[in-house]
Amino acid sequence: MAAAEALAGLALALGLYALLYYNFIKGATCKNEASLRGKTVVITGGNTGIGKATALDLARRGARVILACRDRGRGESAVCDIRRESGNNEVLFMSLDLASFKSVRTFAAAFLRSEPRLDILINNAGVRTGSRSSDGFNLAFQVNHLSHFLLTHLLLERMKQCAPSRVVVVASSAHQRGKIDFQNIHKPVDGQLAGIQSYSNSKLANMLYTRELANRLEGTNVTCYAVHPGLVNTELFRHTLIWLKPLFLPICWLFLRDTTNGAQTSIYCATQEGIEKYSGRYFANCWLRDPKPHARDDALAKKLWEVSERMVGLAN
Ligand SMILES: NC(=O)c1ccc[n+]([C@@H]2O[C@H](COP(=O)([O-])OP(=O)(O)OC[C@H]3O[C@@H](n4cnc5c(N)ncnc54)[C@H](OP(=O)(O)O)[C@@H]3O)[C@@H](O)[C@H]2O)c1
Ligand SMILES: *[C@@H]1O[C@H](CO)[C@@H](O)[C@H](O)[C@H]1NC(C)=O
Repeated sequence: MAAAEALAGLALALGLYALLYYNFIKGATCKNEASLRGKTVVITGGNTGIGKATALDLARRGARVILACRDRGRGESAVCDIRRESGNNEVLFMSLDLASFKSVRTFAAAFLRSEPRLDILINNAGVRTGSRSSDGFNLAFQVNHLSHFLLTHLLLERMKQCAPSRVVVVASSAHQRGKIDFQNIHKPVDGQLAGIQSYSNSKLANMLYTRELANRLEGTNVTCYAVHPGLVNTELFRHTLIWLKPLFLPICWLFLRDTTNGAQTSIYCATQEGIEKYSGRYFANCWLRDPKPHARDDALAKKLWEVSERMVGLAN
């Protein structure tokens, strides 16, 4: 009797989990089979997590994929994996450390010298800590926003020449809790909670940046999209809750999206035909989503752009 009850309980739990998994955890799949033969993709942080899964899919579609990563060992090892799994040998590592503006400039110069095309730029790399970068900025603000701002600026002319082309900005629903305080947003902070707040602020910056970029790109056939990938089981949480890890790991594995599913909206925004009219908008689960009102503030977006130009050394 007890065994039968236990079995029924288990079946119920599995059924509930399946319901939860297919309705909330897994998320939508990008269904198009667009070929990327002859196209070149740059993806920052393509060596692990959502970026690696995105790079693998785009390599399978035949693109030349450049993994722009800070660590040569991790980068080269991802190149091997992706070449093997996609059967595409045009996957390359190039060195890019987003914690340093100098590295961004060196990367862009090397890229423009060696690569004639750029069709898709995926600003994917991200960190969830507000410690000090080598340039003295808040790390999340520099890596997630400022350095991608500079990188995109330096590569944009090449993208215009290759239009139609696209910029995909991997933002986050964490932008909802973000604030743009121009006096402090760039300053390093201590502690986990402050680090998480810095992360949210930087993700709001991603949203505002994408909006303003779309305005500035009007008429160029270069379009851009902000993405929320879902809650994904990656290394993103490596700086947070370290002492909770043993408890955390099984929960992550059960209740967070895997990286293949987490990459779907980035892949959708990079490849889906017909979304060009939504340039500057926000996507989640391979569909348009309305961000919070403060992420649609065009005056704030414009001011952030000007402040960012000064911080990365593009304006006097
Ligand atoms: N996971 C989620 O639930 C979630 C939710 C919403 C949004 N996102 C966004 O998704 C994006 C990808 O994150 P993920 O979850 O895949 O995290 P991840 O597994 O930690 O991957 C982050 C990537 O960024 C790279 N990176 C970090 N600092 C860098 C630097 N200074 N220069 C160059 N690359 C750097 C990392 O390189 P190393 O391997 O060398 O550290 C890694 O390749 C991020 O923008 C994140 O904000 C994630
Ligand atoms: C943008 O694309 C359209 C349609 O393909 C084309 O007619 C137009 O000339 C393009 N504009 C630019 C600036 O490339």
